[in-house]
Amino acid sequence: MCASPMQSIPQQQPTGMSQLVKVQDDAGASLVPASDPAESGRWLCSQLEAGNILVFPKTPFSFPQSDREFLLGQKQTNSAFHKNVAYRPAEDRITGLDKTDTPEAARLRAILSGYSQNVTQFLENLLSPYAGKWKLDFASFRPLEERGRTARLHARNDLPHFDSFPTRPTNGDRILRFFTNINPAQSRVWVTSQTFETLGPHFAKSIGLPGPRSANPLANSLRGLAKAIKLPGANRSPYDQFMHKCHNAMKEDSAFQQTCPKQRWEFPPDANWMVFTDCVSHAVLGGQYALEQTFLVSRKAMVEAQRSPIAVLERIAGYPLSN
Ligand code: SIN
Ligand code: FE
Repeated sequence: MCASPMQSIPQQQPTGMSQLVKVQDDAGASLVPASDPAESGRWLCSQLEAGNILVFPKTPFSFPQSDREFLLGQKQTNSAFHKNVAYRPAEDRITGLDKTDTPEAARLRAILSGYSQNVTQFLENLLSPYAGKWKLDFASFRPLEERGRTARLHARNDLPHFDSFPTRPTNGDRILRFFTNINPAQSRVWVTSQTFETLGPHFAKSIGLPGPRSANPLANSLRGLAKAIKLPGANRSPYDQFMHKCHNAMKEDSAFQQTCPKQRWEFPPDANWMVFTDCVSHAVLGGQYALEQTFLVSRKAMVEAQRSPIAVLERIAGYPLSN
């Protein structure tokens, strides 16, 4: 074969872009380059911590067709399902429905409960370094078409951002999310930009980091009191304050939104994927009908703790940012 006379100059990939890592083939066979489950778990965790997206082309646990059809059928028949629905595993309760005392709501709760348990069991086996070292957070059913969905600026999910939950501070622990596209015909479309290791220092500079926690005994006892009476936000560490500001600043920054390097991903029907959404800047551009389960993974369980957003920020600050 002749070399082309027009040699194209290879374009340099911007630093810190996420990669897609296929964990299984279409038949469900493992594609992980490891000889035993412990080595495989460490490899997968290091891929996640590097900001990569782990993908399973087919749902890797049982998900009955009748349950899928029930979820897909709801949008047309029940206006209450026009919102995202959250499932709280600790309370076995759903929120985001207008009425929770109907047979449909009971069935939805049962399906989300089963999904939550299946994802948890699957990841306990797959990601051995994290097993038992996470807090099971909410699951959700996302029946809305994301393309063109309107929302207030800070709630928009079509603008690249790092996740931060103002009502569930993590104190430096990590936000791991597992998604399933149950749409039988349509892909869910994401874009990702650079990871926190690249973008975090830039935003630390523009937003500024919270100062060190004062050793003042009065300030400490006021914080203790606020926590004791469960004042909203009382548990929020300097790290959480920064991450929340950063989430908002990214969405507000139209120059960043326009110029940040972007990679587009399509997750086809029945694809599953997982990602640390506190270190992968992500946005959803289109797609309808997804399920998702969130885990708050202890920062101590990381296989490369120095890559965590809190470690990146503490290196810059020179003092602790957790409570
Ligand atoms: C997000 O976390 O920003 C939304 C992701 C999705 O719903 O696909
Ligand atoms: Fe997000």
